[in-house]
Amino acid sequence: MKDQYLDINKASWNKRTEIHFDSSFYDNESFLKGRNSLNEIELNILGDLNGKKVLHLQCHFGQDTLSLERLGAEVTGVDLSDVAIEKANVLASRLDSKARFICCDVYGLKEVLDEKFDVVFTSYGTIGWLPDINKWASVVSHFLKPKGQFVFAEFHPVVWMFNDDFSKVEYRYFNDEAIVEIQGSYTDGTEDLCTKNVSWNHGLGEVINALIGVGIQILDLKEYDYSPYDCFSGTQEMEPGKFIIEKMGRNMPMVYSIFGQKKP
Ligand SMILES: C[S@@+](CC[C@H](N)C(=O)[O-])C[C@H]1O[C@@H](n2cnc3c(N)ncnc32)[C@H](O)[C@@H]1O
Repeated sequence: MKDQYLDINKASWNKRTEIHFDSSFYDNESFLKGRNSLNEIELNILGDLNGKKVLHLQCHFGQDTLSLERLGAEVTGVDLSDVAIEKANVLASRLDSKARFICCDVYGLKEVLDEKFDVVFTSYGTIGWLPDINKWASVVSHFLKPKGQFVFAEFHPVVWMFNDDFSKVEYRYFNDEAIVEIQGSYTDGTEDLCTKNVSWNHGLGEVINALIGVGIQILDLKEYDYSPYDCFSGTQEMEPGKFIIEKMGRNMPMVYSIFGQKKP
């Protein structure tokens, strides 16, 4: 499976992106009118981006990348899906943006991009598509300038232990074998979608040790009992924009964020 996962996931993300782009979940209409798609969680650690060079890994069709640009950054977004990159360029041209988008596997980026950045950013639904977290961390570190900042927000690994309706623990917390699933997607409009996906679970210790191992100091780690996205089944909006799994209450971690700095 390891030698085929990129082709399988690329095909899946290409299909998903076609639908996501027109979904009310992503709501491009309000985005084009000026809505910033970033959440309080990452905004709190991103700080002042004015004039900063930001590399956004796994940017999907670019809403967050373009939102980073709206905050004053010079942005580069990277994604495996050629459909996502095509749509990102459509959004960028409609906004008269200077954003650059590159279609590439995260692991192959060093071969096509020879620059350093002030900030590397990646968020929500990213590392689960990557088998080797040490390799991912080495990419993050490679592209950061000395003292550059790493800003990361991700679904909590505990969430991925459960089956779809959160009625039982189905997967190990720890990185083990590839998880192969036939699934729909998390936006509206994807009810009839059925694509094959290959993913991996990555525990917090695995992620943190990988970052430490490549010289990134962890300055802040937070865990949250809600998701800023309504992307799971059986959710309840406990406060505007804060979703929990109803049957779990506020007992389980849904999201975490990491703010790191590359050693000088
Ligand atoms: C859930 S999206 C994350 C982006 C962001 N949270 C959003 O909703 O816009 C995951 C993205 O990761 C991309 N992706 C998956 N595997 C990848 C890889 N190996 N290299 C680069 N991008 C990858 C997919 O194409 C998809 O666009």
